[in-house]
Amino acid sequence: MSRQTVNIQFCFLLVCLFLKTAFLQVTCELKFQIVKPVSLVGEEVQMTCDGPCSSFNYTWCHLNETKYTGSIYILHVTLENSGEYKCSCYINGNVCYSKAVNLTVVERLSKVWVSSTALAIVEGQSLTLHCEAASQPSSVAWTWTRLNESGGWSAVSAEQELTLTRAGQSGQYQCHAYSNVLGLTQSQNSSVHSVYIISFPLTGSVNAGVAGLGLALLALVSLLLLMMWRGRQLANESLAAGGTLAKGLAGPTKAQKGRQCQGQTGDTGEIYMNCGRITQTCHQLT
Ligand SMILES: *[C@@H]1O[C@H](CO)[C@@H](O)[C@H](O)[C@H]1NC(C)=O
Ligand SMILES: *[C@@H]1O[C@H](CO)[C@@H](O)[C@H](O)[C@H]1NC(C)=O
Ligand SMILES: *[C@@H]1O[C@H](CO)[C@@H](O)[C@H](O)[C@H]1NC(C)=O
Ligand SMILES: *[C@@H]1O[C@H](CO)[C@@H](O)[C@H](O)[C@H]1NC(C)=O
Repeated sequence: MSRQTVNIQFCFLLVCLFLKTAFLQVTCELKFQIVKPVSLVGEEVQMTCDGPCSSFNYTWCHLNETKYTGSIYILHVTLENSGEYKCSCYINGNVCYSKAVNLTVVERLSKVWVSSTALAIVEGQSLTLHCEAASQPSSVAWTWTRLNESGGWSAVSAEQELTLTRAGQSGQYQCHAYSNVLGLTQSQNSSVHSVYIISFPLTGSVNAGVAGLGLALLALVSLLLLMMWRGRQLANESLAAGGTLAKGLAGPTKAQKGRQCQGQTGDTGEIYMNCGRITQTCHQLT
């Protein structure tokens, strides 16, 4: 072997070493992506971690997991899954890491219904309608509409509660809930709620007989309304029961999270060590 050949080989080795270092420095950054960074509770969320460590263990910060995959699915996200996510991996003794990406999990807006402080009132008293939802995101815009003379719905309030006092306010009301969290919109309309406010023009000169008749009439109307109201309550209760059932379905996620960590290692002592090591890696990243 000539001296020249040795020199060429040595140079080649140097160039290789230089290129390798340069290559690692340039590419050792992971691309971390959350397919749907704003998701509803219960939805499926996919995260991917792309980089040079295609066949190594990835550490998923926040999830506290190390997996042999650059892609993770959370089948049913919960509010607790919200937060900052990062990933990292080791290649040739170097740690590669991604920037932090936020996942925002938004509570679902359930069906809304109207509750009322009274079934019917005499003019002068007040009746308050309240729009309720079994579950709702952090910010909801409420509006009330009323069926008008021409059969259309006119907006009457932009609050969750609506207080009525005048006989002229008797009629049919509907409540609307609207939410927009980072572009994710949800909306619900209540069913139509009837309000009865009875005018009592004789309050100035109270004739005992007429007042008695009026009260008897009011009692009769109240009884009728009570029966209607009970019917509606029962309908609402079955609706609400449906809601809790749906909520319950999203339940197993938490258990699943624990199971994933366990699935890695198999025994409780090891899980702790494994997760502890992850936390360390995640700390190094910040
Ligand atoms: C990946 O993780 C498994 C389990 O923790 C471990 O046995 C294996 O050595 C790791 N592989 C690499 C390349 O770090
Ligand atoms: C009734 O509601 C419709 C639809 O909102 C509206 O266009 C109309 O002007 C309203 N009529 C009255 C009398 O308020
Ligand atoms: C809910 O109410 C709004 C406002 O009145 C209306 O535009 C929309 O069509 C309603 N949606 C349903 C599903 O009834
Ligand atoms: C991650 O694991 C560590 C150690 O087991 C624990 O203290 C921490 O609360 C875990 N973090 C999450 C988000 O589960």
